Amino acid sequence: MTAVPTELVDEETPSLSGWDGLLARLSNLSVTRHFDAYADVEWDAPELTIDRHDPRWALGDDDPLGSRAWYRGLAPDLQASLGLDLVASKMKIGLQFESILKQGLLRFAAELPNCSPEFRYCYHELIEEAQHSLMFQEFVNRSGFDARGLSKADRTGAAFVVGLARRFPELFFVFVLGGEDPIDHVQRRELRRGGTIHPLLERIMRIHVTEEARHLSFARHYLKRRVPQLSRFRRAQLAVGAPLILAAMAQMMLRPSRQIVAAYTIPRDVLDEAYTHNPEHRAATVASLQKVRRLCEELGLLTPAYRRFWRLLGLGSST
Ligand SMILES: [Fe+2]
Ligand SMILES: [Fe+2]
Repeated sequence: MTAVPTELVDEETPSLSGWDGLLARLSNLSVTRHFDAYADVEWDAPELTIDRHDPRWALGDDDPLGSRAWYRGLAPDLQASLGLDLVASKMKIGLQFESILKQGLLRFAAELPNCSPEFRYCYHELIEEAQHSLMFQEFVNRSGFDARGLSKADRTGAAFVVGLARRFPELFFVFVLGGEDPIDHVQRRELRRGGTIHPLLERIMRIHVTEEARHLSFARHYLKRRVPQLSRFRRAQLAVGAPLILAAMAQMMLRPSRQIVAAYTIPRDVLDEAYTHNPEHRAATVASLQKVRRLCEELGLLTPAYRRFWRLLGLGSST
């Protein structure tokens, strides 16, 4: 089994340095280390079959909802079923996020001049995202849960975000990090924990974290390169927009969808206890955004006034 990648491997590095060197390395890795949703996942292997009553789908004690007395009081079959539907619903939201990301990347790439190395990289990334979306949708189909994913209001916001890729690409790439970083953080933690994880989910997560490492690297380096060149006004817009986007994304990615809440009639006080007023969940959310927060600090987007704003949005840190 492949290990969880921590750093990008500097294989066959072309003799380029700086930004062009990074793009060449990332594009090269997309050629030498990439996955296909159907060739690389044995969907029909008996051990990868999804059984909704398989206890491996049940939430663990370390999950904000899984640790509640309400959840522990459910019949084991229902615990497993809820756990599986949560995974399927997150995959659906993941592929809807990737759809916005792909549309934005296409707009971004359409503005690039000929011979731009970013063009090739962006197309590699969107091909990879299309493979991820095929994997996620196949999982949803096989789960037996008719996951709807994002709410109508969230989908309306998607058109605005796609437009940002052309109008304000720096904010668009903050959105990208806001979607990719928390999920990457959660998937790496799950993979490190190992144990009773279902092998189909494990396979999907390993493929995903491997390729996401490149996407995260591109977005971070793009911001490091571009933000210092922005006007003071643009930087202020970014400093306000970044935490707003990050708070909304973390909420979307780390809490159960409305459909799940309705399907299992999860009581409001259980949700409040598990998520809204749970200091452990808040700390986990902050931890999942730690890398992007540090990047914002590095980019000078977290002055004391903005720090208060982050705290107000529930993204405060003890540091
Ligand atoms: Fe992805
Ligand atoms: Fe990605």
